[in-house]
Formats: sequence, C-alpha cells, structure tokens
Amino acid sequence: MKILLLKGLVYWLLTFLSLHAMSDPRPAKLAICVTCHGVDGRGNEVIGAPKIAGMETWYIRDQLQGFQKDYRGTHASDENGREMKAMADYLSHNEIDALVQWIIQWPVDATPATISGDATKGGKLYAHCATCHGDQGQGNATLRSPALAGQNDWYLLSQLRNFSSGARGSHPDDGYGQQMKLMMNSLPDDASMRDVVRYIQSLPVPGNAK
Ligand code: HEC
Ligand code: HEC
Repeated sequence: MKILLLKGLVYWLLTFLSLHAMSDPRPAKLAICVTCHGVDGRGNEVIGAPKIAGMETWYIRDQLQGFQKDYRGTHASDENGREMKAMADYLSHNEIDALVQWIIQWPVDATPATISGDATKGGKLYAHCATCHGDQGQGNATLRSPALAGQNDWYLLSQLRNFSSGARGSHPDDGYGQQMKLMMNSLPDDASMRDVVRYIQSLPVPGNAK
C-alpha cells in the first residue's frame, strides 16, 4: 500500500514536472528523488532511501549505472533495490549529469545514531575496511570505495546485510560489488555488522563531496 501510494505520487510528479520544466532551474527529476531520499537528500528510513547529500559524484554515477545495467536491484530479495532501479531506469545520461551537479550543492549534516552496537569492537573490525574506505571512512575514488562516514547508519547496516546475503555484489559483471561482498568474511554475523556500523557512525562527517 505504502509503495502503491508512493508510485502514484512519483508518476503524478513526472507529468507535473514535464509541464513545469521550463520555468524551474532545478533538474526536472530532482523532485522525484526527494520524495524518497528526503528534503535536501538527507535520507528517509521508512522508505529505506539513504542520504545522497554529500555522496561522491562518481559513486552516484556508478550506482545509478549499476541499477541501469542490472548489477543492483534485480536480486529476488532486494526489495528496496528494485524500487530504486525503477527510478534509475528513467534517467538519461544528461539527466544524471544535471542531478549530480545539483546534489553536490546540498548541505552535508551529521546523521543521528540509530543502531546499537559496540564501537570499540567495531573500531577493531574497521581495520579491515580502512584500506579501501579510508581510515576516517572518507572514501577512496581510485578504489571506487565510497565514503561511509556521514551515511545513515541504518542504511550501512542494510547494505552489509545485502552483501552478506548476496542480494548485492552477486552479479557476474559487478566487479566492485563482488570485491565488497568478499569483505563480508571479516563480518561473520549481525553483531559484528552492528559493531562496525556503530564505529563508523562515530567518525567525523566528511565535507562536501567532489
Ligand atoms: C521510490 C523511491 C525512490 C526514488 C523516487 C528515488 N530513490 Fe534512490 N533509492 C531508493 C532506495 C530505497 C534506495 C536504497 C536501495 C538499496 O537498499 O539497495 C535508493 C538508492 C539510491 C542510490 C544508491 C546509494 C548508495 O549508497 O548506494 C542512489 C545514488 C540514488 N538512490 C539516487 C537517486 C536519485 C538521483 C533519484 C532521483 C532521480 C532517486 N534516487 C529516486 C529509493 C528511491
Ligand atoms: C577491497 C576494498 C574494500 C574493502 C576492504 C571494504 N570495502 Fe566496502 N566497498 C568497496 C567497494 C568497491 C564498494 C562499492 C561497491 C559498489 O560499487 O557497489 C563498497 C561498498 C560498501 C558499502 C555500501 C555503501 C553504500 O553507500 O551503498 C558499505 C556499507 C561498505 N562497503 C562497508 C564496508 C565495511 C564495513 C568494510 C570492512 C568490513 C568494507 N566495506 C571493506 C570496497 C571495499
């Protein structure tokens, strides 16, 4: 029901936006993104849509392409990914360029802690992650590893669960997702995933993305 209402709203917006595109400086499809990703892209836990404010431009592009090329959002148990894939499939190359340029202007705020876990244990586990995601969780463009610090903690946990179950990182052409899925060997159970997420939540929020 929630999803049906949401879809109705999104389709209505698509029609509305195509009529008003000429008089508004914002990218035409931005209003669709914020219905799920929240005001200024701050994230919306009810929908499971993460914070996109502050996200690196290359990572936004990588993931939107991943949805379009069926790397993400096609696994049977990936319900939230399927919701997002339906949106990504609508976007042209030019529209993605315009959206990314707008998204990097949004303010980047800290996110509240919503996941319980042991940050001390999490800090030790994070040693396995720092090589790619950076010692402060600031991300590494060369390794295509996104910033984790500043992201909604419930979203980080949901993605770790997805990599662990194979809902993400299983597609044969998804090299980066597969790399990340392999790393789940160092987080064998839900408690260890919560601990590492609790630690990441305590890291300073990186500034605006490049
Ligand atoms: C119907 C709701 C909905 C709409 C509309 C929507 N998204 Fe999403 N989006 C989601 C959900 C849910 C996820 C998380 C998917 C998952 O759990 O794997 C997501 C994930 C993403 C991701 C991946 C983030 C990451 O950290 O991996 C990006 C990038 C993204 N959305 C950008 C956008 C943009 C840009 C728009 C506007 C064109 C948009 N979304 C519209 C629901 C939506
Ligand atoms: C070998 C490099 C590497 C290591 C080590 C690594 N990751 Fe990743 N991680 C990646 C890459 C690459 C991606 C992006 C995958 C994609 O494009 O779908 C990623 C994605 C993620 C995501 C999804 C972020 C999002 O916004 O959707 C989370 C969460 C994550 N990693 C957490 C961790 C944690 C926690 C550890 C340590 C246990 C870790 N990673 C270790 C490379 C790595």
